[in-house]
Amino acid sequence: MPPATSKRGVGFQAPTGEFEVLMRPSWMSRFAAGLMACLVGIGASAATGQQLYAICAACHGARAEGNPGLGAPALAGQQVTYLQRQLLNFRSGLRGSHKDDTYGAQMRAASQAVLRDEKAIAAVATYIAALPRTDVKSASKFDARNGNNLYQGKCGACHGGQAEGNEALSAPRLAGLDVAYLKRQHRNFGKGLRGAQPQDRYGKQMALMATMLASERELDDVIGYIHAFEAAR
Ligand code: HEC
Ligand code: HEC
Repeated sequence: MPPATSKRGVGFQAPTGEFEVLMRPSWMSRFAAGLMACLVGIGASAATGQQLYAICAACHGARAEGNPGLGAPALAGQQVTYLQRQLLNFRSGLRGSHKDDTYGAQMRAASQAVLRDEKAIAAVATYIAALPRTDVKSASKFDARNGNNLYQGKCGACHGGQAEGNEALSAPRLAGLDVAYLKRQHRNFGKGLRGAQPQDRYGKQMALMATMLASERELDDVIGYIHAFEAAR
């Protein structure tokens, strides 16, 4: 199964069809090795969450700690229901299909190639949710006082006082995610790259909230403040 190179990236023959990934060449060999080893290992039988995750690890890291250089967020310890919903959304195109959503498109391709049905999605989400939480430290300048006021006033009611998430409200954990990812998602919601499709019930809720910050500076302060929470709480 030699990878076919094109102008856009490198394509693979995965269980559900063509899989083209846009990645830096240095990452490609590692990713290809993981993908092939895994696909050969899985064969026709149902794959366990751990087996499936071996493919995801090329971008999200062995401990699901994320890789900000690739735009891949930390996943370890996130709510299982949230993970499942996002994977379903990527696979169905509710997330990652806007033409300007380049990072989302990569994840959409990965989900469609690797996760063949809802059982596979449930298995990999359960595996990831049980992994110990990780902490990515990314540098950012922010005003903690302003961040605190804005966060507790506009975000905390859903995402929790310490950004720990609230499964009953379908609001994911934000603690432990890197600054660039948090900002990108907030902007994506605000600009209609995420949460704009009518069937995306939960994304729509967040899209409304993303209009509540008045400036880039407010966004920097809130995101910096969220990032300062320890993930391992
Ligand atoms: C080619 C690299 C790549 C691979 C392989 C990959 N991902 Fe991703 N993933 C990404 C990127 C980039 C994003 C961020 C998308 C965005 O910015 O909206 C992402 C986002 C996600 C999210 C959303 C997280 C959140 O907080 O909303 C989940 C869940 C996820 N990936 C799970 C997986 C799983 C499970 C696999 C394996 C089946 C996998 N990923 C394979 C690159 C990848
Ligand atoms: C009314 C409840 C509510 C409020 C208030 C709210 N959010 Fe959200 N947020 C959500 C929900 C629900 C989701 C999950 C959307 C989905 O499933 O796609 C979400 C998702 C997110 C995400 C994506 C996380 C990821 O892993 O991809 C970010 C970032 C975020 N919210 C930041 C904020 C910030 C910053 C504020 C305050 C300005 C805020 N939210 C206020 C409900 C809320």
